[in-house]
Amino acid sequence: MRRKLAAGNWKMNGLTASLGELRSLVTAHPDPMVDILVCPPATLISQAAQCCAEHPIGIGGQDCHAERAGAHTGDVSAEMLKDSGACAVILGHSERRGDHGETSDTVRAKARAAQAAGLMAVICMGESLAQRDAANTLDIIAAQMALSIPDSSTAENLVIAYEPIWAIGTGLTPDAAQIGEVHDFIRTRLERRFDPGVGRGVRILYGGSVKPDNADAIFRVPNVDGALVGGASLKAGDFSPIIAALESSA
Ligand code: PGA
Repeated sequence: MRRKLAAGNWKMNGLTASLGELRSLVTAHPDPMVDILVCPPATLISQAAQCCAEHPIGIGGQDCHAERAGAHTGDVSAEMLKDSGACAVILGHSERRGDHGETSDTVRAKARAAQAAGLMAVICMGESLAQRDAANTLDIIAAQMALSIPDSSTAENLVIAYEPIWAIGTGLTPDAAQIGEVHDFIRTRLERRFDPGVGRGVRILYGGSVKPDNADAIFRVPNVDGALVGGASLKAGDFSPIIAALESSA
C-alpha cells in the first residue's frame, strides 16, 4: 500500500513569521495518518526543520543544482538541502521549466543528484492548455516521464506530481475523469519501465488549484496518492482540511 502524501509548495512566499503556520500544522496534526511535506523557500528550510524536529512533518526544497558543489553563484546543491534539514526536493516545476528554461534533461540530472544525496525527488510534469486542447496531454506526459525520471528511482526516492500548467494558481481543475486518465497512464508507464515494487510503489500526486472544497473529490480518483498544494498550503487553516481530507481517503 502506498502511504498518501500531502505536500505544500510555498514557492517564493514566506518570512520567519510564516513559521507560525508550520507550528500550527504541527499542533493540528500530532499523529498524522498520511505523510506531510512542506517546502518553504530555501531561506527557511533550516528553521522549518527545527520546528518539525519532534514531528513527522518533512521539510523539502523547491529546486537544487545538479552538481554537488562548485562555481554556481546563487545555486543550492542537493547536499546543502539535506544538510539544512530537508528530506525532499521539488524538481521540474512548470514555473522553473518556464522561468528558468529547465528541460527534462536538466530535471533528470537534478533528480539524480537529489536521490544520490538521500533526498526524495518530487518531479513535476504537466501539459499546457494548448497541448490539452490539441489532445497531446498523454504524449507530453510520456515524454516528460521518459526524460525527467532517472533510472536510479525507487518507491522511496521518487514522487511524481501531475500538475496541468493551466490549473496552477488559476482556480481551474481538470475533472475527475481527466485526472484519472493521466494518473492511470503514469502508473502504467511506471510499471512498464520499473520493477513491480517501484512501478506500483511510487506515489503520484495531483497538483493545481487543490483547495479544501475540492480535495475530497480529487482524492477519490484512483491512483491519486495525494496532492502538491501551492496557494492553499500557505495557511495552516487551508492546508489542514486538505490533509484531513487525504486522511479520510486513506
Ligand atoms: P496552486 O499551485 O495550488 O497554487 O495551484 C500548485 C503548484 O504549483 O504546485
